Amino acid sequence: MQTRRDPDQLKRLPWDQFEKLDVADKAQAFNRAGNPYHTIFPQQFDRDSLERLCRLATCIRRIAKSRPGVDFLNRLLSHKRAMLYFTQPSSRTFLSFYAACQYLGLQPAEVRDAATSSELKGESGEDTLRTFSSYFDLIIMRSPRQGFAERVAHLLSSSERPIPIINAGSGKDQHPTQALLDIYTLQRSFERLDGIDGKRVMFVGDLLRGRTVRSLSCLLTNYRNVEQFFITDPRLQVAPEALHLLDRAGVKYTVDDDFEGHIPKVDAIYMTRIQDEWDQAGDTPVDIARYSFRPEHLQILRPQAILMHPLPRRQEIAVECDRDPRAMYWRQARNGMWIRVALIATTFSVADEIFDYYRMNLA
Ligand code: CP
Repeated sequence: MQTRRDPDQLKRLPWDQFEKLDVADKAQAFNRAGNPYHTIFPQQFDRDSLERLCRLATCIRRIAKSRPGVDFLNRLLSHKRAMLYFTQPSSRTFLSFYAACQYLGLQPAEVRDAATSSELKGESGEDTLRTFSSYFDLIIMRSPRQGFAERVAHLLSSSERPIPIINAGSGKDQHPTQALLDIYTLQRSFERLDGIDGKRVMFVGDLLRGRTVRSLSCLLTNYRNVEQFFITDPRLQVAPEALHLLDRAGVKYTVDDDFEGHIPKVDAIYMTRIQDEWDQAGDTPVDIARYSFRPEHLQILRPQAILMHPLPRRQEIAVECDRDPRAMYWRQARNGMWIRVALIATTFSVADEIFDYYRMNLA
């Protein structure tokens, strides 16, 4: 059995030692009472915390249907302020977090371009984020720098004013809150089909640089007998470390490029766009047409299967597919707002109040 290390000791380690720690130790340092304090990577969640978060999101969604319910939610964190620091483009993650803050009464502020902050005068990203912690109670951040959210979480944990950090997308490595909303979407879609356990999930597109794929693939290891398929051009195939994680978890998976051949076999298809913003000069573009979901593919998709996409999309899914009841991507985007309300409520320990309100008024 693994010995548990003292989270306070872990927090005090210098960054060069902390960054080398095993992810399980980092999770211990970033969690409080089994829930994330900082939300940095998917390994911080287990089956219980995922199920509780999904239940909470559903309660919030139902509470928010009435004016008294919205008023109740608005009062929960009206004494708190959040900074949304997004130095990479975003529509869904930024706006759904913004709306999530508003639902809970948190006042949101934003920086969406480092050139409008004192970083332009040469201030480091670390100092910039530390400055935010003087004025706000929560930082939600997206950055092109791999591991930067983790570094900031560690920095603030050992500062005089530790405040929670939520990673809203870091470099090519992780997008944990996208994975949470994907799990919520899968759970809702398969509610009457024994849940996520035993399902076959196929990832398609840019599996090498798509951080949503890496985060969701990791969260799916919390469910029993979920088989994963990584289907794309060999140049965009998933990184070996993501497969090592599956090997360690004993997960069955397939790495292949036969898109059409696998469509009839799976319960969920997770399409992703080519992340060409990371292209290097001289890279040859991949012909994505071979890995695009077209209207004729609806004929071979299982009747109970679902089609997902983190969005934004280009040509990976034809718009003609949008009206099919199995097309789940617009619902997925809205689920993102509810699961983010649930995550912020959990971060600030007001989840029990929400469950109590739900039991007394809606159960
Ligand atoms: N899925 C996602 O992260 O979308 P945005 O880039 O629009 O936030």
